[in-house]
Amino acid sequence: EKAGYKHFMLKEINEQPRAVRDTTLGRVSLDSGEVFLPDLQLTREDIQKATSLTIAACGTSWHAGLAGKFMIERLARIPVDVDYASEYRYRDPIPGSLGLLITQSGETADTIAAQLEMVSKGTPTLAICNVVGSAITRKASGVITTNAGPEIGVASTKAFTAQLTALFTLALYLGQQRGTVTPQQSKQYVAELAEIPRKLEEILRSVDDQCSELAKSFSTARDFLFLGRGIHYPIALEGALKLKEISYIHAEGYPAGEMKHGPNALIDETLPVVCIATKDPADPTSVLKYEKTLSNIQEVTARSGRVIAIATESDPIEHSHLTGLVEHTITIPQAPELLLPILEVVPLQLLAYHIAVRRGCDVDQPRNLAKSVTVE
Ligand code: M6R
Repeated sequence: EKAGYKHFMLKEINEQPRAVRDTTLGRVSLDSGEVFLPDLQLTREDIQKATSLTIAACGTSWHAGLAGKFMIERLARIPVDVDYASEYRYRDPIPGSLGLLITQSGETADTIAAQLEMVSKGTPTLAICNVVGSAITRKASGVITTNAGPEIGVASTKAFTAQLTALFTLALYLGQQRGTVTPQQSKQYVAELAEIPRKLEEILRSVDDQCSELAKSFSTARDFLFLGRGIHYPIALEGALKLKEISYIHAEGYPAGEMKHGPNALIDETLPVVCIATKDPADPTSVLKYEKTLSNIQEVTARSGRVIAIATESDPIEHSHLTGLVEHTITIPQAPELLLPILEVVPLQLLAYHIAVRRGCDVDQPRNLAKSVTVE
C-alpha cells in the first residue's frame, strides 16, 4: 500500500502533483478564468457584505492559514485574522463576518472548539477539509474539500499543499465576487495555477537527490533555523515543524527581518540556516522582499552560519551572486508570488524526510504524536 515507497510520508510527498490537480479539478475554468465553489453556499451578496474573515487551525493547517491570509487580503481585499484554534476560545474573541476552519482530518478537538465558539457568536463557518463527512464539515455552513486523498503519515505533506491550493482558489473566488480582481488577472492566475502540478513534478525529479545529499552533512546538527519573509515566512515555520516532528532536531522558523532583533546571537558555524529566497520577477513587492532577504543571508554568512537557500530559477549573473554567498542552493521553477509556497515547501519536506531517515527515526509514526489530535 506504500506503492513501492519506503514510507507513507515519501509516497504522500510524491502524490502532491496529483493532490493539487484534484483540488482544482472542476473548480476553475481555463477559458474564462472563473472559479466555481458552489459548496461554499455563499451568495455574491454575502461575500460583498463581508468585512473580515477569521481563520482558526492547528499545526500545519495553521501554517496554511497564515499563507492564506496573504492570498485573501491581496486578491479579495478582506482583512484576515489567523488564530491558533487551541487558543481561540480562551479570550472571548470577536469573530469576523465569516469564520474559516482549516483541517486535514476534520476531527481536531481544538479546531472543533474554535468552530463552536464562532457558531455560538452567530458567525457562519466555512471549512477547508480533507475528510468528507468529518465533524467539522458537518457543522460548517460551507466547505471546500481538499482532494488530497487519505493521508497516513503523521507529518502532513500533501494535505498542506492541497490546503494552499484550496486557499488560493478561495481567495480568487472571493476576489471575483467582490470585483477586486479583473477578468484578465483571473485568467492569468488560473493559467498559472494549472501549471503548478507540472512544476511540482519537476521539483520532485530534481531535488530529491540534493536533499538526500544535504542530509549527509546536516543530520547531526543540534538546531536549525528556517527564514522567510511575507508569504514565505509561514513556509519557513512549516519547514521547521516538519524537521522537529520527524527528526527530533530543534528547529525554529523566523521572519527573516526579525533576525537582527535577537536571534542573530544564535548564529555560529554549527548552525544550518535554511533561507527561502524565492522571487516573482514580475511582482515589485516580491523583488523588494527578495533583495532584503539577500542582505539577511549576508548577515548570516558574515557570522559563519551555514546557509541553504531555496531560490527560483533566475538569470546566470543573479544566480552566481546568490550561490557565491551560500553553501547550497536548491532551485525551483518560477511562479507568481502567491503560488510559490506550494512549490517551495517540497524541498523542505524532503530535507526533513532524509534527515529523519538518516537519524533512524520512525518517519511515519513519530514519538508522542497522533495523526489526529482529538483531545484539547
Ligand atoms: O487534521 P488537522 O489538520 O486539524 O491537524 C492539525 C495538526 O494536528 C497537524 O497539522 C499536525 O501539526 C501535523 N502533525 C503536522 O505535520
